[in-house]
Amino acid sequence: MTRSFPFHPFPSGWYQVAYVDDVPAGHVQALHYFGRDLVLFRTEGGALRVFDAHCVHLGAHLGVGGKVVGESLRCPFHAWRWGVDGACVEVPYSDRPPAAARMRAWPVREVNGLVMVFHDETGVAPGWEVPVVSEVGHDEWTPFEKRRWKIRTQPQEMAENAVDRAHFRYVHGTLTVPESEAEADGPVLRVRSKMKLATPMGEMDGAIESDAWGFGFGVVRFQGIVETVLLSSVVPIDGEHVDVWFSFSVKKLPSRGATRGVGAALVADIEKQLAEDTPIWENKAHLTAPALCPDDGPIGLLRRWAKQFYPG
Ligand code: FES
Ligand SMILES: [Fe+2]
Repeated sequence: MTRSFPFHPFPSGWYQVAYVDDVPAGHVQALHYFGRDLVLFRTEGGALRVFDAHCVHLGAHLGVGGKVVGESLRCPFHAWRWGVDGACVEVPYSDRPPAAARMRAWPVREVNGLVMVFHDETGVAPGWEVPVVSEVGHDEWTPFEKRRWKIRTQPQEMAENAVDRAHFRYVHGTLTVPESEAEADGPVLRVRSKMKLATPMGEMDGAIESDAWGFGFGVVRFQGIVETVLLSSVVPIDGEHVDVWFSFSVKKLPSRGATRGVGAALVADIEKQLAEDTPIWENKAHLTAPALCPDDGPIGLLRRWAKQFYPG
């Protein structure tokens, strides 16, 4: 049997494509996600947009040499300008722009410091919004510690990791197989896990609360030595690869040095876990009819929840 992913088309949902801070007015950037070339830009007035990259005039990539001009994006090839709604606002050498010419604009939001794009292959409008996470930007929590990886897998495979209780013991070395409970609620999957952790301070109880809004937005709260929140987004680049965005914030301890130390230790531990999972993900096959045992945890529930994100 050779490895192939049955996850087609790309799942619908909100996905991170940038940090808000990295997209000032006038910024233009080429992106490649969902097997598509895209362009991200912010107008002088502050409007943020993501369009399909290729100019509908003669196909130039607007993210390679395109320029923001006021409230429009100017193509590098023949200088047509595209407005924030995707319509052509100027053909500089003609007063007869084709009325129907329009760039495809994807829904975009700026929330929790992240730039999120809604992707649906069939063009359906978003049926839910990315929730505001109260810890983000709060005085008692640290600014984001950011990490990013490119991994040869697909979003559903990484999502399954949260409910695959046995792997925590055998891949990550938890002292016990965690207790995991999962509940699906529309686009949201809530997973609650408890486990014994080996720490430099000895054995202790750990708890993880993970709430996933589709595959592209997850909020994971860790309780243990210190409270930590992780915003995660697993974004398909193409049919084989994902971009993984992790943004950590730690609840501040009385001493700044202690916060930094404990926060760094937790981030390092999550990086270690990701490094442990990666060779499994990059080489495993996705079995549609796996041979599960009753103690494998809520893998079936995750797969039923996942179905809603595949259009058609
Ligand atoms: S290809 Fe963009 S203006 Fe011609
Ligand atoms: Fe894992």
